[in-house]
Amino acid sequence: MVLSLPEKLQRCRMVVLISGNGSNLQAIIDACHDGQIFGDVVAVISNQSSAYGLNRATDAGIEAVTLPHKDFPTRADYDGALSQHINQFEPDLIVLAGFMRILTADTVRQYRGRIINIHPSILPLYPGLNTHERVLEDQASIHGATVHFVTEALDGGPIILQGRVKVLDNDSKETLAAKVHIVEHQIYPKAIAWFSTGRLQMKEDAALLDDKPIDLRIESSD
Ligand code: GAR
Repeated sequence: MVLSLPEKLQRCRMVVLISGNGSNLQAIIDACHDGQIFGDVVAVISNQSSAYGLNRATDAGIEAVTLPHKDFPTRADYDGALSQHINQFEPDLIVLAGFMRILTADTVRQYRGRIINIHPSILPLYPGLNTHERVLEDQASIHGATVHFVTEALDGGPIILQGRVKVLDNDSKETLAAKVHIVEHQIYPKAIAWFSTGRLQMKEDAALLDDKPIDLRIESSD
């Protein structure tokens, strides 16, 4: 008997890398539980032992690994150990969810097409750190978040999905961060759901949904 595609599909195994609170991790775990994502978080790895996201993983019965970068003399040494840990879980997808480290080009290449990140800005605007502060300094009226495939270009890989928020006169970096988190918790599970059912791919440095270049629909929390 020839099986139809959904019957052949295996649940997507995900390793999530974090450094802190892990609210995006929680949104992903919840989306796995409620069936939005056809997959499971099989391990969470943090470079910070104090990351609250490690508790979220343990509470959900997911293996939580602390791998402090301070224990390794070079970035390449750290990434070598990180890759070993990741690979032992045989993931289909590596999810960066507030992982505040730049990965070496070798590491990124190893996972090409199956490593994604969420960044707190509407890329290509505001790559790098302190995005909320920079948006406020510039008096920008729109801010948001981007899910993208990770390539060697820092915050520069093919964009999968974006969400936006309005910047109000009385916004602080804290209120902006909270608003951006709300859209992140919508767009990250959605993008991962696409990947988990085989709809999302990276081909020749482009993000494809159902084999077509993605129509970048900006989601809004307003
Ligand atoms: C998120 O806003 C994410 O976009 C950002 O860190 C936060 C993590 O929140 N990531 C980066 O800045 C990566 N350069 P969380 O720990 O609550 O998910």
